[in-house]
Amino acid sequence: MSLLTIDSIAKSFHGIHALKDVSMHVDESEILGIIGANGAGKTTLFNCITGAFAPDSGRVHLDGKDVTGAKTHRLAKSGLVRTFQLMRPFGTMTLFENITVAVQSRGVRSESRAREKAMQLIVRTGLEDWAEKISASLPTAVQKRLELTRALALSPRVLLLDEVLAGLVPTERGPVLDLIEELRREEGVTFIFIEHIMAAVRRLSDRLIMMDQGSVLAQGAVEEVMADPRVIQAYLGKEYDDAT
Ligand SMILES: Nc1ncnc2c1ncn2[C@@H]1O[C@H](COP(=O)(O)OP(=O)(O)OP(=O)(O)O)[C@@H](O)[C@H]1O
Ligand SMILES: [Mg+2]
Repeated sequence: MSLLTIDSIAKSFHGIHALKDVSMHVDESEILGIIGANGAGKTTLFNCITGAFAPDSGRVHLDGKDVTGAKTHRLAKSGLVRTFQLMRPFGTMTLFENITVAVQSRGVRSESRAREKAMQLIVRTGLEDWAEKISASLPTAVQKRLELTRALALSPRVLLLDEVLAGLVPTERGPVLDLIEELRREEGVTFIFIEHIMAAVRRLSDRLIMMDQGSVLAQGAVEEVMADPRVIQAYLGKEYDDAT
């Protein structure tokens, strides 16, 4: 049985079919990549999976349980956590306070225990030097890692990453990819990641899905999907920043 299964999800906005009939699955400890042009429906899919809004039709199962339309915080308690394409930490708090709040939201009641756990996470993601800085003032690369650390604070089993590398220069990307691989290796975290940077997609993905205009156009082994003529035509022919 797959850890997360999506069956025939559809979602429209004012008559525009953002998702038409999307089905996919991810297995325990797998890293699944999602690619597709701007507007293909990738973020909408994450929104439908993680409770930002309910799909018009279709089902989402986590660990065999129907979680369609469940609220974000309940899904997070079950281990399904996401990051955002546009980050939204509490900007007036320090990085340390942001992570502490996330740890507390996971049910760690003791203030001192929450602070201790937050600091461990911050060390793990290499953000010690930034811990006391106000979040809104942080450089993009640090905010991206804050977003990832915040997600980790929720002890995810499945982590959905929406363009975590966007806005990072090539030298900043490697450490983020290393961290993702480490989390899978050491803690068995399962990932679904949306990404435009093909070198990262190649490096991380066990399997790849290509979306186009609200549908899954191709899925399978990475090199297979990238060699699919429809994929080349729809997506890879366009210029993307590919230096990692
Ligand atoms: N909340 C919303 N209200 C109205 N339309 C929306 C909403 N969210 C998404 N859409 C529309 O749904 C379609 C898919 O958008 P989505 O953001 O899912 O694409 P994407 O694949 O994530 O693109 P990108 O690569 O640019 O992030 C687009 O036409 C978009 O304008
Ligand atoms: Mg998007």
